[in-house]
Amino acid sequence: MPWMTPDVVNDVNKAVAARWLGLDPLLPEPIGLPEGCMAPLVAAGENGCPAGLGVCSHQYVPADTLAQTWGAAARFVLTLRLPEPDTRAAADELLAQWREHLTELPEAAAQDTAAVVNWPSRDASGVLALQRHGLQPIAVIAARPAGRPVPADGTDAIPGLVIRAAGPGDLDVVTELEMGVVRYDADFGGSIPRQATEGLVRAEREAALARRPAWIWLAEAGGRPMGLAVVDPPETAAWIAGMTRPGLTAYLYIMFVRPDERGGGIGAALVRHVHRELDARGIDVTLLHYAQVNPLSAPFWHRMGYRPLWSSWEARPAATLR
Ligand SMILES: CC(C)(COP(=O)(O)OP(=O)(O)OC[C@H]1O[C@@H](n2cnc3c(N)ncnc32)[C@H](O)[C@@H]1OP(=O)(O)O)[C@@H](O)C(=O)NCCC(=O)NCCS
Repeated sequence: MPWMTPDVVNDVNKAVAARWLGLDPLLPEPIGLPEGCMAPLVAAGENGCPAGLGVCSHQYVPADTLAQTWGAAARFVLTLRLPEPDTRAAADELLAQWREHLTELPEAAAQDTAAVVNWPSRDASGVLALQRHGLQPIAVIAARPAGRPVPADGTDAIPGLVIRAAGPGDLDVVTELEMGVVRYDADFGGSIPRQATEGLVRAEREAALARRPAWIWLAEAGGRPMGLAVVDPPETAAWIAGMTRPGLTAYLYIMFVRPDERGGGIGAALVRHVHRELDARGIDVTLLHYAQVNPLSAPFWHRMGYRPLWSSWEARPAATLR
């Protein structure tokens, strides 16, 4: 096994950076390694150079945060650095080592846990290794670079539809519509509704609705709110901005149209409005999550100019990793 010096890590990162740039120009440049629960896992390569590194981090998500609504309460996350053109063998070896580690952790057997690997969506080379180890593709982080056009289909001008910035007086309806997404995504494993969720949504939106300029919009007709878009501005999107290149990154956190109003172009009109605002505010990239098998959101977002950047593969509970 090669000695894990900063130089070895740098060499691996350099090779991974070149690979990622070739795969997808929106992927970030890998720097250093995250803090792990132990020394990095190493897949042996030729000439003493590792064929891959893996760092396991344990994340215990507090019950009083909305993050616990969007995933398991305890997450064991494996960060992979795979420098070779074909990553499958190294990914396979690192996942096998990681599994050994997780079987030694009693807490990984608890129900509300997940073993998580964030994988560059366009890296087809190691996907079979992820599947072989029992991981399922749960969610996608999709990206839209600024200015990317949405196909014009004339739906912008829906008679009577008004799209407006939401304000403090909209707290009840914003909470109601946001809870609609939480409930809908639960059927696909995208969300895990908790007892605290509604109260937390309300508290977060109360603060966000006071912000000006507004980053929350409502689509309404005849005074009835029918659709909601909530965006995290760059200052609160820092938690996810590192998943793409440096620049001004916003995060489209919530998008919802009432079930009886879907399929008529309200969602597209709302997103067009939001994109015009984001482009005017100098946002370079907008990121969002969608549940991989949500049949409404995946096609909708691809039509709206987004494409997969990262795929999140999970085994739930974590001990079901094979
Ligand atoms: C995703 C969602 C916001 C889309 O909103 P929407 O108002 O239904 O979206 P649109 O009507 O603009 O577009 C949806 C479909 O209707 C079609 N459509 C657009 N204008 C239309 C019109 N005038 N008449 C009929 N259909 C129309 C669109 O072409 C699109 O169809 P296609 O992509 O299958 O070809 C909505 O389905 C929703 O709230 N889903 C549940 C929550 C959710 O999944 N949120 C996203 C989480 S990431």
